Amino acid sequence: MIVKKAESEDAAVISEMIFSEFPYTKADTENVKVRMSKPHIGLFKAIDGAKIAGFLEIELLDSLFNVWRINGLAVKKEFRQNGIGKELTEFAVSFAKRNRASQLVLLVRPDNYIAKKMYKKIGFQANGLWKSQINGKRAEEWVLNLQNNSIV
Ligand SMILES: CC(C)(COP(=O)(O)OP(=O)(O)OC[C@H]1O[C@@H](n2cnc3c(N)ncnc32)[C@H](O)[C@@H]1OP(=O)(O)O)[C@@H](O)C(=O)NCCC(=O)NCCS
Repeated sequence: MIVKKAESEDAAVISEMIFSEFPYTKADTENVKVRMSKPHIGLFKAIDGAKIAGFLEIELLDSLFNVWRINGLAVKKEFRQNGIGKELTEFAVSFAKRNRASQLVLLVRPDNYIAKKMYKKIGFQANGLWKSQINGKRAEEWVLNLQNNSIV
């Protein structure tokens, strides 16, 4: 399994995955292409041979405090429980550290026990309910503090 920067020809597959897992977001192929071209966004794919098995989107949320957020993470059903989700999340952590982030944050549905278990093992901590709703439901914010990695 390799994690690589996604290219514009990957946008349709990534858009399908987003639509399947997060149907309330408006991420058509064009939108995904636009997002991957933005300097403050990193869109990465996990590939198994020639196939895209999963994706991860990370975004610089707060440039003053250098806080990054995982905006999206999904593994195709047929590739799950093979360590790919963990590898993508660990890739995001390394990416954030390389960029000297102070924090890496993410939002997760309270009933997404599989994802929460994975994030906890990697070192994220629950930080209570987030102020806004996602698809009509309150989401939990999870945080990984990386202060020791900061240069200030
Ligand atoms: C969450 C998700 C990305 C995990 O991907 P994955 O490749 O299956 O995860 P991994 O194989 O790396 O497993 C990571 C950990 O979760 C556990 N896990 C994964 N699937 C599990 C399941 N169905 N039941 C119980 N535990 C599970 C694994 O056991 C592993 O822990 P371990 O190290 O103790 O073995 C995947 O289930 C997914 O795409 N879900 C839908 C989208 C989603 O929820 N994204 C996260 C939004 S915040």
